[in-house]
Amino acid sequence: MTAGLRERASRVLLANWQGQSTVPAADLYPHQWSWDSAFIAVGLRHVSPRRAQRELESLFGAQWPDGRVPHIVFDRATPAGAYFPGADFWRSAAVTGVRHPATSGLVQPPVHAIAAWETFRADPELARRRGFLARLYPRLVAWHRYLTGRRALGTGGLVSIVHPWESGMDNSPAWDGPLSRVEPLPAGSFRRADLAHAVAGERPTDTDYGRYVRLAADYRDHGYADGPAIPAFAVQDPLTNALLAAAEAALADIAAEVGADPAPHHAELKRLREAMVEWLFDEGDGLLHARDVHTGQSLRAGSVAGLVPLVVPGLPVADALVRTAVGDRFRIGETGLPPSYDRTDALFDTSRYWRGPAWFNIGWLLWRGLRLHGATGVADTVRAALVRAAARAGFREYLDPLTGHGRGARDFSWSAAVTLDLLDSGKG
Ligand code: SER
Repeated sequence: MTAGLRERASRVLLANWQGQSTVPAADLYPHQWSWDSAFIAVGLRHVSPRRAQRELESLFGAQWPDGRVPHIVFDRATPAGAYFPGADFWRSAAVTGVRHPATSGLVQPPVHAIAAWETFRADPELARRRGFLARLYPRLVAWHRYLTGRRALGTGGLVSIVHPWESGMDNSPAWDGPLSRVEPLPAGSFRRADLAHAVAGERPTDTDYGRYVRLAADYRDHGYADGPAIPAFAVQDPLTNALLAAAEAALADIAAEVGADPAPHHAELKRLREAMVEWLFDEGDGLLHARDVHTGQSLRAGSVAGLVPLVVPGLPVADALVRTAVGDRFRIGETGLPPSYDRTDALFDTSRYWRGPAWFNIGWLLWRGLRLHGATGVADTVRAALVRAAARAGFREYLDPLTGHGRGARDFSWSAAVTLDLLDSGKG
């Protein structure tokens, strides 16, 4: 079974490869996405280390002069109407110039340094010959500096995101509160392309889309400037900050490899870790919660994003997070499939995008985080459940966390990629 699954996963990555990068899914997401590319590289390194390096290099080739790594890099060969909002909506050339690739102006969670380090480790000799890390390191540093310098909008020095798309978990119930303050654009004022390729009940609602488009248009119309005014949606997200902290640990390894000083990266890891625990951790329910920059209030919710800080080395509250992960709300120790939202909450929905379904990338992050903190039994359960789900349901975008049935797009690149990585980790 394992050999067949590996072969099938590789075929998905080969089919979705566009020559310089990989589309997340041929119809639904026909361009390059930022955090998708990072997870894709983690799997692609087992098929072709060179392509995995190219994947990250092409993404960072579209990095903005201010250091931000855009969440979508548009493929010029793809018809304009294939995805909404497309390049003509974002008008990135107004900021980056016409010679720059057309991109969105938002960002996504900073998992890239982790992916770069894993990609390097797959074939250090090839990577050194190509100068892979030597070229990428300054770009990764600039990316992290953008986040900590330009996006430290609230108190505590944590990074803020200014759009639900930046969280990667677009319609998480955690965003319902702050989003309710945003007046949605009327559904008739734009045309959703996603519903041509996906079941409406598995996607965000029209009202949520109206709010997403309003927020994105406002950010664009302010020239994608981060301040002085704070955008209508601005939150300190535990997943974003946790991945940044873990990425600083990876950056320390990368710095050592390229002959730079790892010490600033260790210091940054420690700073972010302490700030996350101080400002986002809730001892009462053993979870980290996002914080609303406008009100300073904790956005108490049951998002799995609050467990992702398990990926942070030395996290002092890891034991509490493991207890929450195996408790009634997530039951990861029994099922192995991490729901994206608290299964005991009235808002839990087994089918609708980030309001309940289990996602392969989150499972992969939790698997790493659980192992990092010594919860190897639970980590093994997660690994086995993800591999089993891929074998049964195929490389679906997400899964019903109770039944394992596939939801969303088929032949989804990061689902195939992290499965390849999980299979490889089981080899010996
Ligand atoms: N995740 C968003 C979408 O569904 C945008 O990045 O299109």
